[in-house]
Amino acid sequence: MLPKVNPVQSTSWSHLQAAHEELQASSLKELFELDGDRFEKYSIAFEDFLFDFSKHFLNDKVLRGFDQLLREVDLSAAKKAMKSGQRINETEDRAVLHTALRNLNGGPIEVDGQDVMPEVKGVLSQMKSFTEKLHDGSWKGYSGQAINAVVNIGIGGSDLGPFMVTKALKPYQKAGIQSHFVSNVDASDLLEKLEGLNPETTLFIIASKTFTTQETMTNANSARDWFLKTAVDKEHIKKHFVAVSTNSTKVQEFGIATENMFEFWDWVGGRYSLWSAIGLSIACAVGYEHFEALLEGAEAMDKHFFETDDLSANIPTMMAILGIWYNNFFGAETQAILPYDHLLSHLSRYLQQGDMESNGKGVDRAGHSLKYQSGQIIWGEPGTNGQHAFYQLIHQGTKMIPCDFIAAANPPHGLIDHQEKLLANFIAQTEALMIGKSETTVKEELRAAGKGDDELKKIAPFKVFEGNRPTTSILMKRLTPRALGSLIAAYEHKIFVQGVIWNVFSFDQWGVELGKQLAGNILKDLKGVPGVHDASTLGLIQKYKDFKDA
Ligand code: F6P
Repeated sequence: MLPKVNPVQSTSWSHLQAAHEELQASSLKELFELDGDRFEKYSIAFEDFLFDFSKHFLNDKVLRGFDQLLREVDLSAAKKAMKSGQRINETEDRAVLHTALRNLNGGPIEVDGQDVMPEVKGVLSQMKSFTEKLHDGSWKGYSGQAINAVVNIGIGGSDLGPFMVTKALKPYQKAGIQSHFVSNVDASDLLEKLEGLNPETTLFIIASKTFTTQETMTNANSARDWFLKTAVDKEHIKKHFVAVSTNSTKVQEFGIATENMFEFWDWVGGRYSLWSAIGLSIACAVGYEHFEALLEGAEAMDKHFFETDDLSANIPTMMAILGIWYNNFFGAETQAILPYDHLLSHLSRYLQQGDMESNGKGVDRAGHSLKYQSGQIIWGEPGTNGQHAFYQLIHQGTKMIPCDFIAAANPPHGLIDHQEKLLANFIAQTEALMIGKSETTVKEELRAAGKGDDELKKIAPFKVFEGNRPTTSILMKRLTPRALGSLIAAYEHKIFVQGVIWNVFSFDQWGVELGKQLAGNILKDLKGVPGVHDASTLGLIQKYKDFKDA
């Protein structure tokens, strides 16, 4: 079980508060001036990655404080508990073993005395042989034609991960297969994706851990209706619908043959499930070999995370403590994820679920209300688009927004001029956020542009950049499946470490239940069975009925 330590009552917390006081009075620029080795000291190389943490309010005192904090909250016991299959998701009484899904080269991992690895590897080989048949054209639709479109129907963890990865690995997309993702219960999503598809050559993957999720089952039913409109015979379903789930009874009830079900287990959390059979849509898109390379990249990051004891050398732990540092000591509430790579344009959406569903908790592991801040608000868009939208606030607004800048040195295309401009912006932004622009420089520039003293006085304040805004730069050689696997796993472990420090249960998600329950009640109202509600809710229900076409 996980230790239950209130972090703010730890000795290290007060040391960190003192370190914060000191650092607040300094500037990032000064920290570089004081220490010529700062970049080498606070950046970590890992395979084909560089993680640069040097543009942060960080010094050895801060690291010592966090090192002590990690010992006080007993991170190493928590890591062992997770890795060894203990039921650390206590409120759902489940183990947390997404690391087992990519334990391709490791030994046995037991849950309740049973090694899960044979089953994990069994499902992987089922995925391999299925995707091979799909790609060599031997998996035929009911009319004898090969499949050319794969539609993943799922939501949350059964959508965001596979969707993000499929988009990120587009350069690896198998010729002759289109990939689509449907998640929203709003039928416009499904209809848009079905447009132009041929039921005879379309395969649906119904991805749902529970196989009861309202959105997914509604979309799955409508997709089946769409298919049967052409195919007519229900027997044909087995060639066009496969399921990824933990719920075999519901899968059978839906009409999907058992041999077309890809299993996973309750110890895989939805938002940590892209490594499981939930990644089937990824393997269909880019080929099993690339899916496996993704797992291998994650496995390498797992090894790094579990085996690197030195905090300053451990990437996910550094990412985690920096998040805590800004959230709990500097009062920053959000963190921006800014990939300078259009292929990673869904990364921040994916990490929103990973992070916010995991650590958006207000109760500690003993069931008491938190008296300190937990989960960060994660958001972001790819660069350079964001620069022309919300960067104004990051540069000159009143809020501190620590940012992760992510880029790959080598693009998958040959348009080098674009790439150099992209990377110049990537590097320039972190520099600008750190050094800012002083009033003196602004005035000099205005003078050089021929402005007089009056104008200078009037305009200068608006052109000053305080700077001193912290950033992490993550630079990789190339966005390969392996690199992507490592990157995602780094964020997963960052979330885990933060949950351990905040003393929250990171692997349940009770906060999504109330809305689901009330939507069920209101659906009954909309179908004519009135319920008891507050005046606003009743008013909205009535207005919807008034507005609704007969
Ligand atoms: O609503 C939250 C949630 O339970 C997520 O945690 C999960 O990823 C998603 O719904 C989808 O659930 P399922 O895979 O069971 O359809």
